[in-house]
Amino acid sequence: MNKARYTQDVPKDRIELLRSIAGHDKPFKLMVIGGVDSGKSTLITFLGNELLSLGFRIAIVDSDVGQKGVLPPATVSLAVPEGPFESMSDLEGWAHYFVGTTAPAQFIGEMAVGVKRMVDVAIDLADVILIDTTGFVTGVGAEMKRLKAELVMPDLIAVIHSGELSGLVRALEPYGEVVELSVSETARRYHHEERRDLRAEKWGAYFKDSQLVEFSTSAVAITGTSLFHGTPISAGEKEILEKAFGWVVLAGWKNGAYTVVKADVERFPRAHSRELKAIDFEKLSNLLVGLIDDEGLCLGVGILKWVNFSEGTLQVLTPVNDLSRVREIRFGRIRVTEEGEELGLLRRDEL
Ligand SMILES: Nc1ncnc2c1ncn2[C@@H]1O[C@H](COP(=O)(O)OP(=O)(O)O)[C@@H](O)[C@H]1O
Ligand SMILES: [Mg+2]
Repeated sequence: MNKARYTQDVPKDRIELLRSIAGHDKPFKLMVIGGVDSGKSTLITFLGNELLSLGFRIAIVDSDVGQKGVLPPATVSLAVPEGPFESMSDLEGWAHYFVGTTAPAQFIGEMAVGVKRMVDVAIDLADVILIDTTGFVTGVGAEMKRLKAELVMPDLIAVIHSGELSGLVRALEPYGEVVELSVSETARRYHHEERRDLRAEKWGAYFKDSQLVEFSTSAVAITGTSLFHGTPISAGEKEILEKAFGWVVLAGWKNGAYTVVKADVERFPRAHSRELKAIDFEKLSNLLVGLIDDEGLCLGVGILKWVNFSEGTLQVLTPVNDLSRVREIRFGRIRVTEEGEELGLLRRDEL
């Protein structure tokens, strides 16, 4: 189920927008910006279907990591629909960029780079590139929109609002012609619980046909974390840390600072310091990871089920079949089960 579905029952300004895109030189890049549930994806679904029926080749870049249409969640995805589609969730992904979370405030670099890379792939495949974005449009979210627009330099930026985004409109003007669209009267708000349930359904659908596979840390690069970076700590250092903090230290590395993976045995005050990052082993369980190819693009995502530090192996549940293309495992910052239950978000600096 997807919130946004194809409809021709759209405000008149959408029809004018369609006409102006159809009449413009190609390739053409449109970035759609607006708050949560303002009708961004409905607009893109409308434009995509209409442009296809007019004979244009289209591509959709879905960067709404929290409410993706094109799976998997927590990535920026490119789809290249060839025929009419009811909803973006019916579309197969063509390429993906790993972000690793559904809450991108600490990942605006990844978001902007992801959109740019998907547009770079799309430019050779389509006449019109439609870019969907998150509803996160205030504070850091507004900066993120600006960074995306700066990198992509859209031909047109459509901002859907009722006046509240006039500051953002001004900020975006240097990076593309801005057109302001009204919020459709039929747009409806979704509650926090509904959004969570929609996400759960999508996670579940993505992981439906997954299998448990194993990667060796000697064969793949581990990124997005300080784990596995630096020199392994010595038995002596491990013992000192265990005594000082009442931990069982499962693994540790020295790379300027220390990074250790531990389990608590006794309740000691938490160690917080720039010299020592201590990661609870349980925080790694069900962590979302990206399976990355040799171009830095994401082949798909997986759920980290187990790490064997002494053997240097990671067990990952994933629907990705062609594991020979995986050269890197990138750690995300959300823990989720294959049924779609979100167990929690992690801060960027936690891993
Ligand atoms: N023109 C429209 N006609 C009918 N329903 C609409 C229209 N625009 C938006 N909606 C409804 O409003 C809700 C939010 O729209 P959506 O496109 O998912 O917003 P966004 O992508 O900005 O979060 C959806 O339920 C969608 O079906
Ligand atoms: Mg949307």
